[in-house]
Amino acid sequence: MGADLNITKLLQDYILKYGLKLHPVQKEIINYNLSLGDIKRMQISISQCQFLHLIIKVSKIKRVLEIGTFTGLSTLSMALALPEDGEITAVDKDKNTSKKANEFFKKAKQDSKISMIVKSALEALMEIRDKKYELIFIDADKMNYKKYYEIALKLLDKEGLIIIDNVLWHGDVVENNIKDKITDSIRNLNNFISKDERVEKVIVPFGDGMTICRKL
Ligand SMILES: C[S@@+](CC[C@H](N)C(=O)[O-])C[C@H]1O[C@@H](n2cnc3c(N)ncnc32)[C@H](O)[C@@H]1O
Repeated sequence: MGADLNITKLLQDYILKYGLKLHPVQKEIINYNLSLGDIKRMQISISQCQFLHLIIKVSKIKRVLEIGTFTGLSTLSMALALPEDGEITAVDKDKNTSKKANEFFKKAKQDSKISMIVKSALEALMEIRDKKYELIFIDADKMNYKKYYEIALKLLDKEGLIIIDNVLWHGDVVENNIKDKITDSIRNLNNFISKDERVEKVIVPFGDGMTICRKL
């Protein structure tokens, strides 16, 4: 059976050299996140940035909702792929990282496409319950993913996409001896979505693993 490559740092650099070039502000965010220490692991990987870019371009998506912005790498990656009249609603409860993200958005001249909601995601989702999106990216607190998934399905256009990050959870989902609450909740979600007939789905092994669901 064919297997996916283990992406080493060298391969990651190679992908960056020969694949889609990052915008200078994307690079700046990555460097800034490196300076934050361990918390840098929150950001998506470069392959994920490139994948989000491509999917927005090929699907001609204009309306995006993101749950979990951190310092803005995923948001900016999507904003750069959107047309001038595209828009992203970016939700995060952390005031400090949201402020920093907003500085990066301005620097990249993408801030006119991005509306930030700085509050708990469940509260924010209530506020935008009458809106409709073509793509919803879920990358926040894992224990609430099932709730976000159900709300996202309501906010999504038919044939719209939900992309969920961290579905392989550093590979822990297949380690039977690992039984903590977060790993179990991700396993439960993966099991639930695999049987959910409202969507068709694929899991791609980029970053920490992403499920892409297309609403039927
Ligand atoms: C994994 S990080 C997001 C990374 C981001 N997508 C990127 O590419 O850099 C998760 C984010 O979710 C936010 N978060 C966690 N729980 C939340 C909640 N209940 N409501 C809103 N945001 C939340 C955190 O503040 C954090 O910034």
